Formats: sequence, C-alpha cells, structure tokens
Amino acid sequence: MNNYVVKKICCIGAGYVGGPTMAVFANHCPNIKITVVDINQERIDAWNSDDISQFPIFEPQLDKLVLNCRNKNLFFTTNLEQSISEADMVFISVNTPTKTKGVGAGKASDLKWVEASARQIAKFSNSHTIVVEKSTLPVKTAETIKKILLSSQENNLEKTEKSFSVLSNPEFLSEGNAIKDLENPDRVLIGGDDEKAIDALSEIYSNWVPKNKILKTNIWSSELSKLTANAFLAQRISSINSISALCESTGADINQVKKAIGMDTRIGEKFLSPGPGFGGSCFQKDILNLVYLSSFYKLEEVANYWQGVIDINNWQKSRISRLIVNYLFGNVSEKKIAILGFAFKANTNDTRQSPSIDVCKDLLEEGAHLSIYDPKVENSKIIDDLQNDLNKLKVNQGYGYWEIASSVLDAANGSDAIILLTEWDEFLNIEWEKLIKLMRKPAWVFDTRSCIDYKKARKAGLNVWKIGNSLI
Ligand code: UDX
Ligand code: ADP
Repeated sequence: MNNYVVKKICCIGAGYVGGPTMAVFANHCPNIKITVVDINQERIDAWNSDDISQFPIFEPQLDKLVLNCRNKNLFFTTNLEQSISEADMVFISVNTPTKTKGVGAGKASDLKWVEASARQIAKFSNSHTIVVEKSTLPVKTAETIKKILLSSQENNLEKTEKSFSVLSNPEFLSEGNAIKDLENPDRVLIGGDDEKAIDALSEIYSNWVPKNKILKTNIWSSELSKLTANAFLAQRISSINSISALCESTGADINQVKKAIGMDTRIGEKFLSPGPGFGGSCFQKDILNLVYLSSFYKLEEVANYWQGVIDINNWQKSRISRLIVNYLFGNVSEKKIAILGFAFKANTNDTRQSPSIDVCKDLLEEGAHLSIYDPKVENSKIIDDLQNDLNKLKVNQGYGYWEIASSVLDAANGSDAIILLTEWDEFLNIEWEKLIKLMRKPAWVFDTRSCIDYKKARKAGLNVWKIGNSLI
C-alpha cells in the first residue's frame, strides 16, 4: 500500500494554537504549503499585517518565524473552501469553550465550532483527507468528527473521491513558551487507527522531533491523555495554593516548603509556584470535561475528586480578594487600588480565565476604584472581560469603577494599595522608593505571585503582603 504524501496542509482556526503551531510547521517543512484559515477577517488581516505589533497573538519568537515563511509556504486567509479542497491534511484548531447553556452547561465543552469545521471539511474536500483534531476536546470527539465525515462520504452526490482518516494530535504548548514547546516538545502524541495516516503526520514531526518522542496510541488514549496531563498540572497548583494558605496561618514560608518538597525527585521542582489561582483557556475547561465524563460514566467519586481542584482554585481567588479588603480596614469603597497584571500569566496577552478578572470583579463589588495596568493586554480585552456596560449601569448603586492605566506609576498614583497579579518582568524591579511617594499612606502591596523584592518594598515604607508568607 502506498503511503500518504502530504504536500498541502490547511489549519482551521488562526488562534493561540493554530497560529504558532503552523508557524513552526512551516519553518521546518519548506516543501509543504500551509494555509491557516479563520472566519474572523480581522484576525486574518492582523496575521497578514506588515506591522508585527499588530499580530493577534503575542508570543516570544513568533514574529520572526511568521515573517520568515509568510507568503512563501505559510498563508493566512479566510478562503476556507479553497484551502480545504486542496489540502491533504486538515488540522482543526478552533475554540472549544465550556458551554454556558443547555445540556452540560458549565461543564461540557461547546463543540459547535468543531462540528462546523467537520461539516466544512466534509463539504469542500475532494480526495483523501487526513483530519487532525488539535483543539482540546473531550474524549470521543474524534468519533463525532468521524461520523460527520463518513455521512458526507455516503451522501457524496458529486461522486468525488472523498475519504477521510481522523487523528488526535493534542497540543501541549504553554502560552508564552509556545515556540520553545513546539520546537522542543517533551513528546508528540498521535492517536488513531489508520497507520498510514499516523505515519504521515509522524513523518512531518520527524523533521525536527526525535522519533523516540513521537508516541502513537489509540485515539481515545490520546484524547484522554491531554485532559489528564492538564488535570495533573492544575492539581499541583491547587495543591501548592492550598498549602500557601496554611503557611500564612501558621508562619511557615511557602518558598521554603516548595524548595524542600521540590528536591524530592519524585515530586520535582517545576509547576510549584503559589499564585492567585490558575487561569488560561485549558485547565478549568479540561477538568470540567473530566468531571462531566466521570459523572456520565457514573463515577461520582472520580468526578468529585477532580471538582475539588477547581473548588480550591476558586477559593484561592476569593480568599485573596477578601484578605485585601480586610487589610484595608474592611473597606475599599472609593479607594484607588492599582492592579498590576491582567493576563493570566506573564508573556502572553491572553486573559481567558485570568484570576485578575475575578479579583477585580470582587473589588468592584466592594466599591473600589481600580486602575489597571498590563504591558501586553489590549484595552478592548479588559473592557470585555470586566463587562464595561454593566459596570457603568451599576456605578450609581455603589458598585466601583475602573480605568486603564498607561504605566505602573500611572496606576499607583494616588492609590492605597498595589495588587500584583501577573508576574511580568517589568514588575520585578519596581522602584518602590519612587512609587511610595505617589501613594496614599498607609501604602500596601499585595504580591500574589511572590515575585517582588519585598525587602526593598518594606524599606521604602510599604506594608507588604506576600502569598504563602502573609505579612512580612
Ligand atoms: C497549559 C498547559 O501547561 C499546556 O501544556 C496545555 O497545552 C495548555 O494549558 P497554559 O494555560 O498556556 O498551558 O499555561 P501554564 O503555564 O500551564 O499556566 C496555567 C496557569 O497556572 C497560569 O495561570 C499560571 O500562572 C498558573 N501557574 C502555573 C501557577 O500558578 N503556578 C505554577 O507553578 C505554574
Ligand atoms: P485556541 O486557544 O484553541 O487556539 P482561539 O480562540 O485563540 O482558541 O482560536 C480559535 C480560532 O478559531 C478563532 O480565531 C476563531 O475565529 C476560529 N474559528 C472558530 N470556528 C471556525 C470555523 N468554523 N472556521 C474557521 N475558523 C474558525
């Protein structure tokens, strides 16, 4: 049997996964034409912009890779029909947020964009197509994709030679580190039952990934591995965050505990930083999928176990808001508070599930005046996330208000407190002496990432609260 030869790839979805992944593919596979398609014209225009600061996604190294290949073997377009019809391989990298209504609301993933993509592939493809599931999806989604594709094969009125192989190839990249993760992955996972299709995808990766790092599994193991990896990572964060609260109550120091446990090679030192709770588009969504799946199979204990990871995460965010209010004499109404960092972590402009959103909303409920500064997040994102319109309506009812600041100094000017929520490099070297002069006294800094030079802040005269240390 002949092997499949991949000369043209189409990637549906030009987002945080599709964009960087295809930029890396294009750089390593100069002989493959890669087209990234999206229904969002603005997003495609941004990818095609001559001004790299207009790219829709901020990722270190990404601009260089895109500029190296764009309009050579990497194209960004909204022309879905053409790019699917000429592709030998189609990646589905569309968004799969948690459902907000209907069956499984609050737990299951909304698969409407995945389904729409599968229908478009079914409609426009005209030869054998390898369809690769790249978005994070619940287990057995590949099955749904297969069913849609097969029905189009059966009802193929134009009698073209349509046929499909479906693979699961989950993405493990972490935002802010996307290019490094894609260039040098811990492993690449390819799940499926068509060996020729698996080999074709494996062949592409082997242009830069050592063969022993390419794992081939059945499709469900691949899908479940992605959910499980994210659940385990999130569980570590909830674990260390739960201990951070205990440290604050008992006088232990979370950084000392972290070092002591991290030196146990079975535990390892990575992913043990306490913080305001995990955010990002994947962790909560994937655990909710696990919870939903476990309940579906009547494994309530398993569902409850994983739900606990999310419960701790929500508790961590709300306990931080509560303690800030308590330290500020139980009242933040009309007090100006500087919020440093709105992205869910450093080195990304993504705010999905960012703990900053919850902390800001809690403080607005208390009537605070927030001045928000983030070096990379666009103003329009903050406006969307804090539901600006709703905010305006509520101001008269004692709800707080917020504004966007242009720098750390601008945010701090006239404030009672600074809350550091994202560990941007820029915040590590704040000149506290200069800053405190602009603030109202007593001046506070709440460091939810344990990353500032607290000795300098104390010396300058600030009251310092640091996660996992309490007052120092
Ligand atoms: C995650 C997974 O790491 C990645 O493999 C998967 O493909 C997608 O989900 P991402 O969401 O980009 O990636 O970010 P990650 O670096 O994992 O951080 C997630 C959240 O956990 C962030 O809010 C981060 O601040 C927080 N975190 C991480 C901590 O609070 N402490 C840590 O030690 C590590
Ligand atoms: P992720 O983090 O999974 O990459 P994003 O939201 O960043 O998620 O990107 C998903 C992209 O997929 C969005 O730009 C969205 O417009 C696009 N998209 C969703 N559905 C379709 C579709 N049917 N056809 C083309 N693009 C789509």
